[in-house]
Amino acid sequence: MEQMKQMVLKKFEEVFGDSEGAKVYFAPGRVNMIGEHTDYNGGHVFPCALTIGTYAVARKRADRKLAFFSMNFEGLGVLESSIDELTPQKEAGWTNYPKGVMWAFGEKGFTLPCGIDLLLYGNIPNGSGLSSSASVEVVTGFILRDLFGFDVTNQDLALIGQYSENNFNGVNCGIMDQFAIAMGKAGHAIFLDTADLSFTYAPIALRDAKIVIACSNKKRGLGDSKYNERRSQCEAALAEIQKVKAIKALGDLTEEEFEQVKTAITDPVCVRRAKHAVYENARTIKAVEALEAGDVELFGQLMNASHTSLRDDYEVTGIELDTLVEEAWKIEGVIGSRMTGAGFGGCTVSIVKNEAIEKFVECVGSAYEQKIGYAADFYVVEIGDGPCVL
Ligand code: GLA
Repeated sequence: MEQMKQMVLKKFEEVFGDSEGAKVYFAPGRVNMIGEHTDYNGGHVFPCALTIGTYAVARKRADRKLAFFSMNFEGLGVLESSIDELTPQKEAGWTNYPKGVMWAFGEKGFTLPCGIDLLLYGNIPNGSGLSSSASVEVVTGFILRDLFGFDVTNQDLALIGQYSENNFNGVNCGIMDQFAIAMGKAGHAIFLDTADLSFTYAPIALRDAKIVIACSNKKRGLGDSKYNERRSQCEAALAEIQKVKAIKALGDLTEEEFEQVKTAITDPVCVRRAKHAVYENARTIKAVEALEAGDVELFGQLMNASHTSLRDDYEVTGIELDTLVEEAWKIEGVIGSRMTGAGFGGCTVSIVKNEAIEKFVECVGSAYEQKIGYAADFYVVEIGDGPCVL
């Protein structure tokens, strides 16, 4: 981290002249172990923060200007704006993520007194489904709190990030990503009930295994994906179920209850979407119980079942993610493997025994390249902490 700090500070000096008064910050990316597409259905999720994420250098300005520079998009140069020009816009370039958070603070009654210079560098692969955008949102909120002394908690930073993504960027995401990032704890995943935001930290003790992320390198933009459509399908199913049973969200139903009321849903596609939401929530609860009981094997089986449900009922995988997962399942020493994040591209997460990691990377990698035509990338990851000043 110290090396990264020096690297981004040096770049800040190059771009903005000097680094007087500037501070360096970090917010992680996240990987979700299980509980996919449950967070906007009042269900449970089980994500963890990573040690890769977004590095930022920021300082206050004497005027009302905003000056943005991203080391990931160096060719764009310094992008200027002003705190008086923050208007919601869908899919309008990377600066809309920090701008959205600044706007959202304003909406919540925290007015920015002056502009800032902001440099970002992310080592999360873009569009990989490891929440590079939520990481930018949380680091921006963290910076605003630090620079201007706004009285907000880390949980508020998560909610403000989600609010900005929903209302400024037009992506109807749930709370999982921002929460996992703002509340991250090294070595632990967060068992979060999205119905009321109650949560516990569960240690991820994998003994002789590690978490391996495989990036399909198929880019995914949430805005142009079918994400919002899935969300509407779940809402349609919920509205029909509510005519026969008083529930607030699909996450209120057990599997048995769902089987009893599912005939209330008219569209068969919506039946499958709702089924995934209900069963995935139940799986997530079981998976955390299994982990607490030290049963990593059962946790892995539930991860596999999660993927099958996302493939067949929720239909958010696609040939790239299916290939990565199905090839992983063939390898001895793979305890569990599934897509992670929104889907339609992005990454898979696998629990792999130490002695099988090399084989995993080699075999899954070559089968993927042969079938898809380009390579996947593999990362053995560590679970890190939430945002911090460096
Ligand atoms: C994206 C969203 C999250 C969540 C996942 C799917 O990452 O930002 O809120 O819905 O997809 O589980």
